Amino acid sequence: MGKSMQFSRRNFLAGTALATGAGLALPTLAGSTAGMQAKAVEYGPAPGVAKLNANENPYGPSPLAIEAMTEAVKKGAYYVNSSAMTLREMIAERHGLSPEYIALSSGSSGVLTNLAMAAASEGNILGPDLFWDTTSKMGTRNSPNGIKRLAKTVDLSIDLDAMYAAIEDDTAMVQICNPNNPTGSVVSATQLKAFCLKASQKSMVLVDEAYNELTDDPEANSMVPLVKAGHNVVVARTFSKIYGLAGMRVGYMIAKPETLEIVGRYGMGSYGLNQAGIAAAIASYNDMTFLKYSKVKIIEAREMIAAAVKANGLTALPTQTSFMFVDLGKLNAEKFRAAMAEQNVLIRGIYQDYTNWSRVSTGTLPDVQMYVDAMPKVLDQLA
Ligand SMILES: Cc1ncc(COP(=O)(O)O)c(C=O)c1O
Repeated sequence: MGKSMQFSRRNFLAGTALATGAGLALPTLAGSTAGMQAKAVEYGPAPGVAKLNANENPYGPSPLAIEAMTEAVKKGAYYVNSSAMTLREMIAERHGLSPEYIALSSGSSGVLTNLAMAAASEGNILGPDLFWDTTSKMGTRNSPNGIKRLAKTVDLSIDLDAMYAAIEDDTAMVQICNPNNPTGSVVSATQLKAFCLKASQKSMVLVDEAYNELTDDPEANSMVPLVKAGHNVVVARTFSKIYGLAGMRVGYMIAKPETLEIVGRYGMGSYGLNQAGIAAAIASYNDMTFLKYSKVKIIEAREMIAAAVKANGLTALPTQTSFMFVDLGKLNAEKFRAAMAEQNVLIRGIYQDYTNWSRVSTGTLPDVQMYVDAMPKVLDQLA
């Protein structure tokens, strides 16, 4: 038995003993709240803090989603089989597919991790140098295979020619986030389509479209038609971004049923879902009023950030998402993050070795205003 295993086993046993002890002292159900201190729980950002460090939509959930969730929690005693099927049918219908092409999970992270595990059992995952690799890291961590990255590009774009050339016999999956995170950049739809058609003959291609709805032309940017046409392409989508349901955890994958069958072997199926999340997703899916409102507000926030970046003599990558990747020049992004945090503005620090790049997400307009106000002060302070 390995050392770390022994260590964790000891902790686990200690925990069991404790839990058993606590179990003996458990009060009766009727008296269980007596004498207990009510804990202050925060479900979102603390008051006075501009939370711009995760790509959440602060305008969500939509009023229709809140109403639907309120009803759904009353049926929380029941597993989600029937409601989950309704959501799969709705998604399938929009794309002219059958529900067998849709797999739901707790956020798209669920299905993305399962797919990465399935891929890692066959070979490596190929991605650009910088992309949202969280689920592929999770999916490969117990595998001898891993993530292979392309060389950096000067403008941080995804070099599709280099990517095609890098597909090898041991490549099990090619992963592209479009738009990409943390860069916010979009690959041209025509070029990506041509790439997917070619590359999918050599390897499965995953296109993570978490931010698709925020792009200038969501339909043109989507690779779902390639799935429909039978190519070895997989698309991931989520209710966490424009739908404003990050905390309700619903995402999905669109792929050939045979692919989803393999992915399903690594997942929990509908056991990973919950009634409130499904209800919110169903109610939001066609809520165009809410979706349009959110997009307008997110773009407004984006423009405020872009103006501040320019006013402070900095530049940023063009973005079609709810975040912006700002080039701080000589300044270290971690130092900038820490100093902004002191002003109650939460943003991201360094990604990999991109030491001068700083990601900021769009939040409510007052929160973005806090970023705009703090930026010159902090830049001065760090100069
Ligand atoms: C590109 C991309 N894909 C997927 C996700 C996962 O989100 P979720 O699991 O909430 O659907 C994120 C979250 O930041 C993301 O940026």
